[in-house]
Amino acid sequence: MTIKEEIQALKKERNAIILAHYYVPDEVQEIADHIGDSYYLSKTAAATDADVLVLCGVSFMGESAKILNPEKTVLMPDAAADCPMAHMADIPYIERLKKQYDDLAVVCYINSTAELKSHSDVCVTSANALTIVKALPNKNIFFVPDENLGKYIASKVPEKNFLFNDGRCPIHAQLTRKALEDAKSEHPEAKVLIHPECTPDVLALADYIGSTTGIIKYCGECTADSFIICTEKGVFYELNKQNPNKKFYLANESLCCPDMKLITLPKILDVLKNNTNQVTVDANLRKDCLIPLQRMLELSK
Ligand code: 13P
Ligand code: SF4
Repeated sequence: MTIKEEIQALKKERNAIILAHYYVPDEVQEIADHIGDSYYLSKTAAATDADVLVLCGVSFMGESAKILNPEKTVLMPDAAADCPMAHMADIPYIERLKKQYDDLAVVCYINSTAELKSHSDVCVTSANALTIVKALPNKNIFFVPDENLGKYIASKVPEKNFLFNDGRCPIHAQLTRKALEDAKSEHPEAKVLIHPECTPDVLALADYIGSTTGIIKYCGECTADSFIICTEKGVFYELNKQNPNKKFYLANESLCCPDMKLITLPKILDVLKNNTNQVTVDANLRKDCLIPLQRMLELSK
């Protein structure tokens, strides 16, 4: 049996599904039952009737799936795959701000630890942040942990007062305006599509700004035939699959998330076989995280 056949057989035997983010390696996306952005993955995890979920992505994705499905087994192919930005917020500072502003909403990007979520009012992803922030009754918004996504949303909701946090995605935030200008002069005809985790000076050059799913959808619907992509290079698998006649250029080779690339087929086989790397979330912590996560799912319907 090939490794793919072994994985398929174990999936059937254990009533398991494989959920994969667009940033994991191609061969993992190829065998996944569901591929998507962070919002799609949490929605799918909340709705599944599988007994075992293999979460091909980074730890906040496995944690969110477990919080939404405490009775199910959630397995991470690599327990060390983590998003550095998920840790970039100071909880005592959040609590101090809550005391200073009586109508403060702490809006927490899903790319965050469970502990951080438990101190927030609502979770968001890059796909639903704008809808959710607009729907909140609060005037004061503390957006954690991503300063760049927070600033992008703030620019669209000028009637609210935003406070920003010192945190960012090390992969998207390192894309410079100069690197993107170079890519644009090499491909002047191409549309520029940018993930909102990029810095504001980079976002200013966009034809379209959106989540990974938004970018993929835009490329399918747009009549242009070439695109400069400013997000992690894993999206090329789906872009090329859906649009074999269009051309895609990565804005810069540095757009590669090493944590997402830790996910491999042998590791998926291993966790399915041995039930290792099970995600656990303390019961009290889970209760506190469930509120902002469920509020996100409600408000983005
Ligand atoms: P989306 O999945 O919301 O597009 O975010 C990208 C990301 O960085 C996930 O880690
Ligand atoms: Fe985190 Fe950035 Fe990697 Fe996404 S691409 S998992 S935000 S480090």
